[in-house]
Amino acid sequence: MKINIAIDGPSAAGKSTIAKRLAKVLKFKHLDTGAMYRCIAYKAHLLDIDISDEKGIAAFLSSTTIDFDSSGKIYLDGIDVTNVIRQKEIAWLASNVSTLLSVREDLVDRQKKFANEKGIIMDGRDIGTVVLPEAEVKIYLTASAKNRAERRYLEMISKDPSITYDDVYQEIIKRDLQDSTREHSPLKKADDAIEVDSTDLSIDEVVNKIIDIIKERKGSPND
Ligand code: DC
Repeated sequence: MKINIAIDGPSAAGKSTIAKRLAKVLKFKHLDTGAMYRCIAYKAHLLDIDISDEKGIAAFLSSTTIDFDSSGKIYLDGIDVTNVIRQKEIAWLASNVSTLLSVREDLVDRQKKFANEKGIIMDGRDIGTVVLPEAEVKIYLTASAKNRAERRYLEMISKDPSITYDDVYQEIIKRDLQDSTREHSPLKKADDAIEVDSTDLSIDEVVNKIIDIIKERKGSPND
């Protein structure tokens, strides 16, 4: 019987990159739940609906489809939005939209259905606490804010040369604060999660560390 793995942590800690890598190594399915909040935020933006208009946003949820293909592409209502939802403005809108209870309920429901079968790695902010509280392995992935901002800046500069390190740093701090202080399912380390600080580690080192944690806890992840 396979296990489920929850990875939570603050913005730009490398959760999705690590989760993707782990999924490949373990042959698990991966769900990037942050991308789902980004999709809803992007749709609200396209429809010109203000994030404070919860009724307006709730009204389009049931007719909205969010799909992932095996190469990691993300489709909102059938349209490839993989790159456009990564913009800094959408990250902030996603953090705002994720404070709305109706949005959380809708997306958490989809996420739980995705995990009906075992062998799932899910990353986000509330996976170990709310979405998969029974996950066999829970990781809380952190890194210093400076380190997270540096990594995110290097990722973004090639796509948007006008961006500065300070913009990215401020955005991360602002988002961490909102995500960890919101009323509904704030970002929080689950009591039984193991904290992994990736500040001085490479991607491979973090992946190997998590594989060691899985082996320690469960033996083989696919047993
Ligand atoms: O992981 P990310 O940066 O793509 O997430 C974008 C926003 O979505 C994040 O600022 C908070 C929200 N989010 C959430 O509230 N719960 C999750 N499980 C995942 C993301």
